[in-house]
Amino acid sequence: MNVLHICANPRPVQESVSKQLAAAFFMRLAERNPDINVTNVDLYQSPPPFLTLPAFRGVWQPVIEAGYKPTTGEYNATAYSRTHAEQLKQADVVVLTMPMWNFSMPAIMKAWLDQVVAPGATFEFEEALIKPLHHIQKLVLLIASADEFKEDDARDGLTREIRATFEFIGVTDIAIAWADGQHGHGEDEAKEHKDIATETAQDIADEVAEMVMPGVVEA
Ligand SMILES: Cc1cc2nc3c(=O)[nH]c(=O)nc-3n(C[C@H](O)[C@H](O)[C@H](O)COP(=O)(O)O)c2cc1C
Repeated sequence: MNVLHICANPRPVQESVSKQLAAAFFMRLAERNPDINVTNVDLYQSPPPFLTLPAFRGVWQPVIEAGYKPTTGEYNATAYSRTHAEQLKQADVVVLTMPMWNFSMPAIMKAWLDQVVAPGATFEFEEALIKPLHHIQKLVLLIASADEFKEDDARDGLTREIRATFEFIGVTDIAIAWADGQHGHGEDEAKEHKDIATETAQDIADEVAEMVMPGVVEA
């Protein structure tokens, strides 16, 4: 099984609650299933470019306009999209680690999504329908925020946008460990929320460790 871990947080792990959730998740996953292959991508080490006009034309124009042939410059501008969409296509499980910033995901995560959710690579249009071109079985979100968020909170632009994006390409199994209330609510409350989110992350890791991939026969 291939797990792709995308991390969008510039802070070191000792200062970052979301990275600590990721550490707990991957430690548990390795304990429960050492055969899982994990690919780590730190977006701050290798930042995705924003989708430029040549990259947009190279990826989207052949889909919008039948017979469109990208120029060499447009094709070259799609290099990040092609490489990282292919990496996403190899994944059975995708884990996204990030803080909430301004009620949404960090811009660097959005830049990655704009590059990899690409027609002709990770999905295609079939008449009016969307056909997935990947085999992702599950999406895991590991998040931290200062404020507390109730379920379906109208201020939450983070999980809503990511859920909508992955559902658009056919991923419906989405699990979330969210350490909310990390600032401004007192140390005890922050710790309690973090502990609950850590347990949730470990429970999700247990589920992932036991997932059986289609076509794989258990011994
Ligand atoms: C630029 C910026 C914007 C933030 N915006 C929000 C926000 O909209 N809502 C919120 O609850 N917390 C917000 N926070 C607080 C962080 O989500 C919080 O500190 C969280 O613990 C960061 O995750 P980390 O510990 O993994 O780095 C913001 C922090 C920064 C630096």
